[in-house]
Amino acid sequence: MSPVWETEKRAPVLGIIGGGQLAQMLFQSAISIGVEVHILRSEGDQSLNSYAKELTVASSFDATTLYHFARRCDIVTFDHELIPAQIVSELSSRNCTMLPNATTLALAADKARQRRTLAEAGIPTPRFAVVESAAEVEAISAAFKFPLILKAARGGYDGRGVVEISSMDDVISIFGTSKMPVPYVVEERLDLDAELSVLVVRSSNRKEVSVYQPIRTRQHEGICVEASWPSHLPRSIDARAVEIALSIAELVDSVGVLAVEFFVVGGEVLVNELAPRVHNSGHLTIEAAKTSQFENHIRAVLGFALGSTDFISPASMVNLIAGPDAKEHRPLQLAAALSVAGASLHDYHKSPKPKRKVGHVTVLADSTTSASADAWESARRAMMAPLLGDPMAALGTHQN
Ligand SMILES: Nc1ncnc2c1ncn2[C@@H]1O[C@H](COP(=O)(O)OP(=O)(O)O)[C@@H](O)[C@H]1O
Ligand SMILES: [Mg+2]
Repeated sequence: MSPVWETEKRAPVLGIIGGGQLAQMLFQSAISIGVEVHILRSEGDQSLNSYAKELTVASSFDATTLYHFARRCDIVTFDHELIPAQIVSELSSRNCTMLPNATTLALAADKARQRRTLAEAGIPTPRFAVVESAAEVEAISAAFKFPLILKAARGGYDGRGVVEISSMDDVISIFGTSKMPVPYVVEERLDLDAELSVLVVRSSNRKEVSVYQPIRTRQHEGICVEASWPSHLPRSIDARAVEIALSIAELVDSVGVLAVEFFVVGGEVLVNELAPRVHNSGHLTIEAAKTSQFENHIRAVLGFALGSTDFISPASMVNLIAGPDAKEHRPLQLAAALSVAGASLHDYHKSPKPKRKVGHVTVLADSTTSASADAWESARRAMMAPLLGDPMAALGTHQN
């Protein structure tokens, strides 16, 4: 059966819930392939303000607001996973096509549920427990050695909601004062050899599935500061991560891009968490792969053929994030950033503040070492302020 937009001889209308940088970059890809975009964003979102033609600003993402929005779109997708799965499921039953579906979203939004589902399916994850009180942490503390990592099951991102605890005293103060809702996932702090991300793209017909080769990510204080390809890990590690990511896409019935974050520890590959959407680690696919994660996400949710996920060059992407020491936040210095040969800049149109991603820079080069050096240089010129996770700052040579 032909899709309705073909019968009606018009462009498909893609609705995006959320108005951050992921929506911005999805929107850019949609323009290129002739897909019309409607955005539903919250009052706080700043990206896309001056660009989207069909922009709805909502003070709350309740079922009625979402329904009125979804009715005007052929397919609705997301730039975050914060919409309650129950609402998504209700809209789906009222003939709105919401992708990814409610089941996938419910898993992604809850780290405890996610970990249990993965563990039950025999997928390797760090050893974990789900706890709701300090007493429950005490009960497992014989089996788990401090320092522990405590992760709020719901609502965390970019390291928010993730805390390291080194003693029972820390546990008691966290449960005494924390505003993060229980439960928590608890695990030991692992000595990570590397972190990887694998992006799987699965089409709405569920038959076509593609995968990008693993991308290496580096975090600082829980936030991704750099992503690069290739991973420079043994081929067997990359292959294992791809195999696991593909099996998870089937397990959670994802449609569109599914990002699977991995820890590499002692030659083993463990799944940290999932995100059923385009992902920060995949931003370098815009320049470094034959088809970007954004275009492939759109192709997948609309049921179009997927584009090639092959990389065309080693690459590095550095996030533009001011570190906590940045005294002054200026607009991005576009000309300065682009004066680094080969740098591609993406501005998210957000006012800078510490630890907020306001853009990214990607550089393609013969090696990831050289791409990384140039991407950091371009990022420094863009921000004119200390950058979170800057490797030169770690060496003590960064000039403010
Ligand atoms: N058990 C752990 N051991 C060591 N580092 C960890 C552990 N859990 C999380 N981290 C670090 O914190 C980062 C953020 O944690 P994550 O669980 O991915 O939460 P978020 O939802 O904020 O991305 C990870 O990418 C990793 O660098
Ligand atoms: Mg993460």
